[in-house]
Amino acid sequence: MKMSNIRKVDPRILFIGSHKRIIQSVLDFDFIAGKKTPSVSVIVAGGRKYEKYFFGTDEILIPVFSSLEKIPEKLKKEINYFYNVSSARRSLESSKAALHLPSLIAGSLFAENIPEKHSILLAQKAIEEEILLIGPSSVGLLVPGILKLGAVGGVEMHQLVDSNLFSPGSVAVFSSSGGMTNELIRVVVSRGKRVSFALSFGGDRFPLMTPREAFLMAEDDKETNEIIYFGELGGQDEYELVSLIEEKKIHKKVICYIGGVVADLFDTPPQFGHAKAMAKKKDESARAKRDALKKAGVMVGETFDEFVSLIGEKNDLKSDKEMIYTERMNSIAKRQSSLITTTISHDENDDVKILGEDLLSFTDKSFARIVILLLLGRREVTKQTEDFVDFVLRLLVDHGPYVSGAVNTIITARAGRDLVSSLASGLLTIGPRFGGAINQAAFNFLNGVKSNQSADEFVELFAQKKEYISGIGHKKYRIDLPDPRVKKILSFTNLLNEKKYTNFAQSIEKITVSKKGNLILNVDGAIAAVMLDMLAENEKYTSDELEDLVKIEFFNALFVLSRSVGFVSHFLDQKRLDEGLLRLTDKDVSYIEKND
Ligand code: ACO
Ligand code: LMR
Repeated sequence: MKMSNIRKVDPRILFIGSHKRIIQSVLDFDFIAGKKTPSVSVIVAGGRKYEKYFFGTDEILIPVFSSLEKIPEKLKKEINYFYNVSSARRSLESSKAALHLPSLIAGSLFAENIPEKHSILLAQKAIEEEILLIGPSSVGLLVPGILKLGAVGGVEMHQLVDSNLFSPGSVAVFSSSGGMTNELIRVVVSRGKRVSFALSFGGDRFPLMTPREAFLMAEDDKETNEIIYFGELGGQDEYELVSLIEEKKIHKKVICYIGGVVADLFDTPPQFGHAKAMAKKKDESARAKRDALKKAGVMVGETFDEFVSLIGEKNDLKSDKEMIYTERMNSIAKRQSSLITTTISHDENDDVKILGEDLLSFTDKSFARIVILLLLGRREVTKQTEDFVDFVLRLLVDHGPYVSGAVNTIITARAGRDLVSSLASGLLTIGPRFGGAINQAAFNFLNGVKSNQSADEFVELFAQKKEYISGIGHKKYRIDLPDPRVKKILSFTNLLNEKKYTNFAQSIEKITVSKKGNLILNVDGAIAAVMLDMLAENEKYTSDELEDLVKIEFFNALFVLSRSVGFVSHFLDQKRLDEGLLRLTDKDVSYIEKND
C-alpha cells in the first residue's frame, strides 16, 4: 500500500462495533483539522438506528446497521476504511465481510488475542484484495490532518492537540504497542518535528502488518525522511529490518529503542505484556536485537532518554498556523449534549423551521404534501405519492357512526366528556381489527413478497396459525357488495410499473373470497399494498427501509390522522344534539346463562 494513495482520498470510515470515545475522538480530529464533513460514515452494531455525536459543537447522527449487509449500497460504496472494535471472537467474520467493500483501502483491528489462524486467514485475504490491514490489538493508523483511523494519538481533545495530529511532517512512527505509538507521536512533536504517519502493529503473536512492511511503506513515502521505531524483545522482526538495510532497501534514517533488556536479569525468560514479547531464544533478546540494529547503522537508544534525545532536542514551540488547532479545541470544549434530537423542526434565530424550511413557506404546500413530508421526515416526495396521500386523507375521514371508533367517541361525548377525551376514546379503538390493520398488513405483504411466498402459501400459513390476515375481511362489504373506496385506492397503481405488493395482496384476496364472501381486500389492506408500491417505486425505498417504516408504525398514521377529523365531527355533532348519557336497554344486551 502506498501512503500517497491514502493521502489522496477523503476518509469514509466504517466502525464495526461501537466505541463512543474512539468515534468521538475521530470526529474531534476531523473538526480540529478543519474538515467540513465527519470521516465516520456508518457504524455496524446492534440495538439502535443512530448514534449521536458532536462534530464541533453541532450534534450529528451516525447511522447504525445491525450488519454490514444491511448498509445501503450508496453508503457501502463510499466506505474506504474500517476500524473493527468487535471482540476477538467476532473480528474475523466481520473483517472478512468488510474486505469486500468496493472502495476499501485499509482496515484496523482493535481486539487482542485474535486466534492465530484467524490472523493468518485475514492476512491472506488482505493480500488478495490488496488492502492494508493493521492489528490485531492496534490503536490504528494516523496520517496527520487527514486520517485518524482508531484510538491512535489519543481520545481526549487535549491529547489530539498536544500531539499535534494535524500538522503533516516527515517522521514515521511505528511500534507494536499502541501506548508507545501514542507516546512517541508526542515525543516527536515535543522535539519540534512532525509526524508523516504513525501506526501500531499490535502486540499479538501474528500481526497482520509487520515492521518489515511498515518500513518499506515509509521508505516508499516521499513525505517520510526518518523512521522512529519502538521494538520489544521476542520474535525476529528486527533481523528482517537489518536485512532490508543491508540490502539497501531502507536508506532513510532509523532511530529505535528495543525494550526488554531487563529480561536478561531473569533466570528464565519472562513473558512481557504482549503475546510476542518473550525472548525464547538468545537472539530474540532486546540486547541481541539492539546490537544487530546498531551494527546495521541504526541509531539505537541504550536508555529511553537517550532514544528521545536521538530523536531531537526539546522544542515544544508551535507555529502561528498551528495555534488554530488549540483555538478550535477551545471553541468546542464547553459543548453540551442535547436532551432531544429531532429532524422535523427547530428554531433558527427565532424563526420556526420545518424540515429546514421557513414555516410559512413550508405551509404553502398542499396539506397532503405537508403530511407525507412530515410523516416520512423527508424534504421531497413525488407528485404521485402526494396525490395518493391526499386521496387517502380525504377518503378516510369518516365511515358512519356505526364503526366502533365513532361509537366510542359518540358515547364518550354523550357522557359529558370533553373534546380531547372523546377523541381519545375513538382513537383508542383503532387497532388490529378496526383501522389499525394497515401497518400489520404492510408488514405481512412486505415479507410475503420478500420471501417469494405464493398467495396460497401465505393464506395457508395464517390458516395454520389460526390468525386473521390483516387487511382482509369486512363487517359490511363483501365480494358482491364491494367497498367503493378500495377500487379507487387500487386505481392509483395504474401509473406504477411493477406494483408487486398490490398484485400480491390481490392474489391473496382471490383465495380468501373463495372461502368466504366478506374476506375481501379491505381498505386497510388496499392502502397498505398501494403505499408500499408507491414508496418502493416512486420514492425508491428499499425493502429494508420499508421494513423500518413498518417498525415505527408509519402505515397506520394516515388512518389515525384522517379519522380524527371524523371523530371530532361526531363529537361536535353530539354536543350540538345533546341527547344525554347513552345507556343500553336489556333489548340491546343478551344475557346467556353459562353452564360451567
Ligand atoms: N383472515 C382470515 N380469516 C378471516 C379473516 C381474516 N382477516 N376475517 C374473518 N375470517 C374468517 C374467520 O376465521 C371466520 O372463519 P370461520 O367461520 O371458519 O370461523 C369467518 O371469517 C368469520 O370471522 P368473523 O370474525 O366473524 O368475521 P368478521 O366479518 O366479524 O370479521 C373483521 C371482520 C373484523 C374485519 C375481520 O375480517 C378482521 O379482523 N380482519 C383483519 C383485520 C382488518 O383487516 N381490519 C380492518 C378492517 S377495515 C377498517 O377497519 C377500516
Ligand atoms: C371504516 O373505514 O371505518 C370501515 O372500513 C370500518 C367499517 O366497519 O366500516
